[in-house]
Amino acid sequence: MRTVEVRTAPAYEVRIGPGLLLRCGEHIAAIHAPCLAALVTDSRVDILYAAAVTRSLEEAGFRVVKFVFPAGEASKNLETYAALLSFLAERGLTRSDLIVALGGGIVGDLAGFAAATYLRGMDFVQLATTLLAQVDSSVGGKTAVDLPQGKNLAGAFWQPRLVLCDVRCLATLSPETLSDGLAEAIKYGMIADAGLLEQLRNGGLSADAEGIIARCVQIKADVVAADERDNAARQLLNFGHTAGHAMERHSGFTLTHGRAVAMGMALVTRACVKRGTVSPSVLEALEDALAKSGLPFACHLPAEVLAQGAAADKKRRGDTITLVLPRRAGECILSKMPLSELEGFFKDGL
Ligand SMILES: NC(=O)c1ccc[n+]([C@@H]2O[C@H](COP(=O)([O-])OP(=O)(O)OC[C@H]3O[C@@H](n4cnc5c(N)ncnc54)[C@H](O)[C@@H]3O)[C@@H](O)[C@H]2O)c1
Ligand SMILES: [Zn+2]
Repeated sequence: MRTVEVRTAPAYEVRIGPGLLLRCGEHIAAIHAPCLAALVTDSRVDILYAAAVTRSLEEAGFRVVKFVFPAGEASKNLETYAALLSFLAERGLTRSDLIVALGGGIVGDLAGFAAATYLRGMDFVQLATTLLAQVDSSVGGKTAVDLPQGKNLAGAFWQPRLVLCDVRCLATLSPETLSDGLAEAIKYGMIADAGLLEQLRNGGLSADAEGIIARCVQIKADVVAADERDNAARQLLNFGHTAGHAMERHSGFTLTHGRAVAMGMALVTRACVKRGTVSPSVLEALEDALAKSGLPFACHLPAEVLAQGAAADKKRRGDTITLVLPRRAGECILSKMPLSELEGFFKDGL
């Protein structure tokens, strides 16, 4: 097992290894006195893992009540959030009790937001079961639900007390969900670790899943600790995301986030190659890593559509937008660009 400490306030550990779900009770009991635990999960993960988790929690002295909602982004909304808060109140959870989020990023975001707001805040732990949740969404304390007007528009910064990433869970993921997580792992390689990018290029996750996840978590933890409230350095984590979000939105969210980010990273890197600010070998390494992960890297949308989508992004400030541009493999920089130049930039990347 590997452990990464996330130095936010409060600090917490991310533990990564095989079989952690079966032993989650003892890990959680070591950081939180046995109490009433609300296990929150989605309909798919419920069938696969809830029984084992419940058993382990009960053996460690927790009493368990379970809240299950239908799997999928359509559930990450105010209705499910309100139903979860009512469930917590009906079952009489107090501030000294615990929420246990078992699932991917959707469960984590929803249960985390409930934990941040129920009784003005209570403890929660995340048992992250998708690769995306293990390398990305479980770290950093962003919790949210979607509004009809857009994704993640209501939320809070709220850190978990502990995150457990059981690498055995990855075996039951669909190939598509696994590759969505790989897109974020490739992103960490591009922004901070050329060796990680090479590793993902030469054999993917299979060679050393635990080591690769730990490396991604460490990179995100370092960035987040330096910028907990997402004002500056944390923007590096948005590599590929400005164009990616525009693609996601344009598809009516039928395109997955990981696929959109994959194409967004390739597009930005291609534009930088064309403008002579990064070597073609970086694009080659990126495209190779994406292809080997089953991810697309060619985007067929017009630059105009991408630029309009990016201008509507919530990360925009005034008439400029901050882009994350690769300098070399393992290093990206933040660069401000006037919105008026964005379409031309994207055109170079298509
Ligand atoms: N908070 C953050 O910082 C942050 C960062 C990135 C993404 N997100 C959010 O994360 C969400 C996406 O997360 P996700 O990709 O994990 O989606 P998800 O939670 O919906 O999981 C994807 C699918 O896989 C299923 N599943 C989960 N674990 C499984 C397992 N071990 N075996 C088989 N099936 C399993 C789920 O039931 C679901 O159908 C989005 O809502 C996004 O906004 C949040
Ligand atoms: Zn992302």
